[in-house]
Amino acid sequence: VKLYAGTGCPELASNIAGYLRMPLCERDVIVFPNDNLFVQLHTSVRGQDCYVIQTTSAPVHRNLMELLIMLQTLRLDSAARITAVIPYLCYARSDKKDQPRVPITARLVADMIEVAGADRYITMDLHAGQIQGFFSIPGDVMTAFYILTDYLKKKLPVMKSPVVVTADLGFAKKARNFAQKLDTPLAFIEKRRVSNDSKAEALTFIGDVKDRDAIIVDDEINTGGSMVQAVNLVKSCGARNIYMVFVHPVLSDPASQILSALPVTEFIATDTIPIPAEKAAYFGDRLKIL
Ligand code: R5P
Repeated sequence: VKLYAGTGCPELASNIAGYLRMPLCERDVIVFPNDNLFVQLHTSVRGQDCYVIQTTSAPVHRNLMELLIMLQTLRLDSAARITAVIPYLCYARSDKKDQPRVPITARLVADMIEVAGADRYITMDLHAGQIQGFFSIPGDVMTAFYILTDYLKKKLPVMKSPVVVTADLGFAKKARNFAQKLDTPLAFIEKRRVSNDSKAEALTFIGDVKDRDAIIVDDEINTGGSMVQAVNLVKSCGARNIYMVFVHPVLSDPASQILSALPVTEFIATDTIPIPAEKAAYFGDRLKIL
């Protein structure tokens, strides 16, 4: 077995390698002056079972292209089996034709990963389960649900009448799983997007958060718009402390700045996407990365 890492999530890759007690294999990733990428493996992978760990968060196209080139490099060097390990899969939100004349880019990304040479893929908490159907190679979609709920369970004794709140109806089923696991009630926010992506408008709140601690859950935070609205809404409904829980910290600028100004006790996320130190600094010790 050989483990390779792209440059997208070096810390996570090295943690995975450390956990497995395996080295990350040497390779060069070079950016030419014309912005073209070049990859070279230091040793042969002929007949080997190879894993490439590469997240596809920002810079999305650079990270995606690097993944594709690494997969092709392994294929051309006669690897026996290649698994793309993609902690955060880009374009997952482009998963349906919900307007006329729009693409389904998640499908395109799945196709490219296969064509580049992957035999299998492993990813985390896909935005929508059906994206698995865009791949014709087998894959595993892992979930952060257990580490997030294990962490929250330890916090329950200091919370007052906690209630899980879903910031998006699309996440309602998963939020119910959180509520069941934590043995709390569930509340819902109905949200409507008012433009293509960047602005969300929270419309309706269903549930009871008065004098309770709210655990707001979602799969990812991008601009932070949904969470800002969610926090304002639960606060106006009388919530006490607020915990914000999300798997993928996309945190496009200036989300960190905006979110950290909110009355939130703790921001709990995972390391599927590295958070640069300058962004993490906004949150200080209120940010917990699992
Ligand atoms: C949307 O469908 C997702 O579940 C998240 O609610 C969304 O990605 C958050 O985006 P933003 O932070 O830009 O509001």
